[in-house]
Amino acid sequence: MKKIIALMLVVVLAATSAFVLASCGDNGNTKSEDNTKELHMATNAFFEPYEYYEGKKIVGIDAEIAEAICDKLGYKLVIDDMEFDSIITAVSSGKADFGMAGMTVTDERKKAVDFTDSYTTATQVIIVPEKDSKVNNADDIAKASVGVQLGTTGDLYVSDVEGASVERFSKGADAVLALTKGKVDCVVIDNEPAKAFVEQNEGIKILDDPFENEDYAICLKKGSDLTEKINGALSELKNDGTIKKIVDKYIGD
Ligand code: ARG
Repeated sequence: MKKIIALMLVVVLAATSAFVLASCGDNGNTKSEDNTKELHMATNAFFEPYEYYEGKKIVGIDAEIAEAICDKLGYKLVIDDMEFDSIITAVSSGKADFGMAGMTVTDERKKAVDFTDSYTTATQVIIVPEKDSKVNNADDIAKASVGVQLGTTGDLYVSDVEGASVERFSKGADAVLALTKGKVDCVVIDNEPAKAFVEQNEGIKILDDPFENEDYAICLKKGSDLTEKINGALSELKNDGTIKKIVDKYIGD
């Protein structure tokens, strides 16, 4: 009798854990109330024009492209805002289905996640005070204090420069605030957010000395079958002009 009960327990346990596993976040298995499958996008929504708050809503190039992809694939998009340096872990652990955050494809990140095809490019730039800047070109970084957003490619580049003292902030805006208060000599960040910061703050400008080009792409858990589906949707959205339309809406030339 004891044996039979033990056996039954094992069966029930196995069944429940299989059920729990199957209903977990990966690959759109979570369902919204109307039963549409959800895709959870991990992002850091302080990165205008790619992702930022308008009131309580997260808008921007990434948010709109993600929405268009989910529409095509028949998912409901849910955006999870978090620290930038938590996104890769959220994706590789399956807590989020994909990460999209003006995220640059790097070899280091490729060890932890897969990337889709690139949907746009960018470059790191240097923001400095308009007047009496200690930093006037990329070489000057070697003798300066530099503000960056923690875990970004800006952080990576500057950390490699001997002599630079790197100040890491949780948000790009905090780095820029430190710059306007004279607490750092410059900020290294992606070009479009840099433009937005310069527009929103008096007395700072972008140096005409950008770093090399970077590719932005969506990251997914290694081996995820969503990658191919998203690539398919992306290529359709590129071909029918949707991506360009979304980018142009936020980045006027
Ligand atoms: N492109 C840079 C990187 O991948 C910065 C991205 C920051 N994105 C954000 N949503 N805060 O490291």
